[in-house]
Amino acid sequence: MRKQLRVTDGSRVLPAVIRNYTREDFDALIGVQALSFPPPFPSELWWNREQLTEHVSRFPEGALCAEAEGKVVGSMTALRVTLEHDEDHDWATVTDNGYIRNHDPAGDTLYVVDICVAPEYRKFGLGKWLMFSMYETVVHLGCKRLLGGGRMPGYRSVSAEVTPRQYVEQVASGRRKDPVLTFLLKCGRLPVGIAERYLEDEESCGYAALMEWRNPFLD
Ligand SMILES: CC(C)(COP(=O)(O)OP(=O)(O)OC[C@H]1O[C@@H](n2cnc3c(N)ncnc32)[C@H](O)[C@@H]1OP(=O)(O)O)[C@@H](O)C(=O)NCCC(=O)NCCS
Repeated sequence: MRKQLRVTDGSRVLPAVIRNYTREDFDALIGVQALSFPPPFPSELWWNREQLTEHVSRFPEGALCAEAEGKVVGSMTALRVTLEHDEDHDWATVTDNGYIRNHDPAGDTLYVVDICVAPEYRKFGLGKWLMFSMYETVVHLGCKRLLGGGRMPGYRSVSAEVTPRQYVEQVASGRRKDPVLTFLLKCGRLPVGIAERYLEDEESCGYAALMEWRNPFLD
């Protein structure tokens, strides 16, 4: 896949590209992870070269990056799985700790391992372009749906007042905003459950909202 675009944050217009990433991009991708997931997010969870090597060799269609002004500024990675029960999984198990050696070429679900855009290039629509490009991959491969555990970094500050489920409902109904969940909703993904102890992610208190997009051509 390769798309050439112009993106804007309302004031600047930048040339951009959405394409599959390759070995030549690894250093840049690791740099984007460090900028995108600052502390308290654990740096051990940033991509390493071994994981990226598995992505591009096992499932290159699920390895996308975004370029702006000629440099890599964002990425999105997925694998194919079939899940028995949606709520009964954590990030490490479903993504094989990000190595995707469990990628199943016949899996009915395109599962999101990660999406990020470097802070300087946020709100240009690049995250949405990555997501919509992955939807095209869902349709192209004939998968039933795209699914992923959405971080909910705004939850920690209100965790004494509301349960994770109430928080997700309030964000989904527009009563609260969350830096990740609001983005996922704007991309057309809907909450289908909550996973506990999903990821070592203090800001989300370890919870994730399972957010789904169904292939509209199969339903
Ligand atoms: C989440 C993330 C990928 C969004 O990337 P982005 O390129 O800034 O998103 P976009 O510009 O495509 O935004 C798409 C829509 O979501 C909205 N949005 C994006 N970030 C938002 C935020 N922090 N709060 C509220 N809305 C937000 C945009 O306003 C836009 O709305 P519109 O369609 O009405 O114009 C980026 O903020 C990021 O990398 N965060 C840190 C990494 C992370 O936590 N990833 C999620 C792992 S589950």
